[in-house]
Amino acid sequence: MTLHARTLRLGVNIDHVATVRNARGGAHPDPLAAAQAALAAGADGITLHLREDRRHIRDDDVARIRAAITAPINLEMAATAEMLRIARDTTPHAACLVPERRAEVTTEGGLDVAGQREALRPVVAALAAAGIRVSLFIDPDTPQLEAAAAIGAPVVELHTGAYAHGGPGELDRLARAAERGASLGLECHAGHGLTHDNVGPVAALPQVVELNIGHFLIGQAILEGLPAAVRRMKALMQAARPPG
Ligand code: PXP
Repeated sequence: MTLHARTLRLGVNIDHVATVRNARGGAHPDPLAAAQAALAAGADGITLHLREDRRHIRDDDVARIRAAITAPINLEMAATAEMLRIARDTTPHAACLVPERRAEVTTEGGLDVAGQREALRPVVAALAAAGIRVSLFIDPDTPQLEAAAAIGAPVVELHTGAYAHGGPGELDRLARAAERGASLGLECHAGHGLTHDNVGPVAALPQVVELNIGHFLIGQAILEGLPAAVRRMKALMQAARPPG
């Protein structure tokens, strides 16, 4: 019998609240207000991606949200000197290192940890030394998992994009990666492209303890409101977990 980790946390990614705000250049809707609404509806933490081009979340959003909420904040960031400085200054609970290409619409693939071990190792060490829990956003493959463990990352976030696009065999690939990650001592998170319709099988993976979900929830907020969308997501996640 496989034991499930007891809790499964939901991190709500609020980037696209900032996307809508920035479309008009004003202050509404405020990502901080959205973060507070998501937490009040049952989110366990807030995730935000400070991209190098600042296309959605901006530096002042990170600072305001860090100052105003006590729930865990997960800062997604590229492994650059600038982002490392900002992470050390704002000390989020967690930082998730992601690949970043300026032309991409969203984070398209996982970080190539296996190919960039020596560049990533000091970034992981510096974040850990600042008391920030580091995760690496990777494709769900053994070489990436082994490289993540080898450079001392305590957490990996498995990229669920290919699963969300309906790729055949992708759920099995995620399941094998979660198992392998746990056997390497890595805490396993997952995210990208998750919706009310596809979250169940990922939430059921026993080694996965956190899901980070953004675009769908913010889109759904237009249709049913953010609190309702978050509550439904949490309920679906919990329903996928065996009791006990
Ligand atoms: N996790 C990571 C590391 C991401 O980069 C993103 C997208 O910003 C997400 C989760 C959330 O993906 P989505 O917005 O598709 O739910």
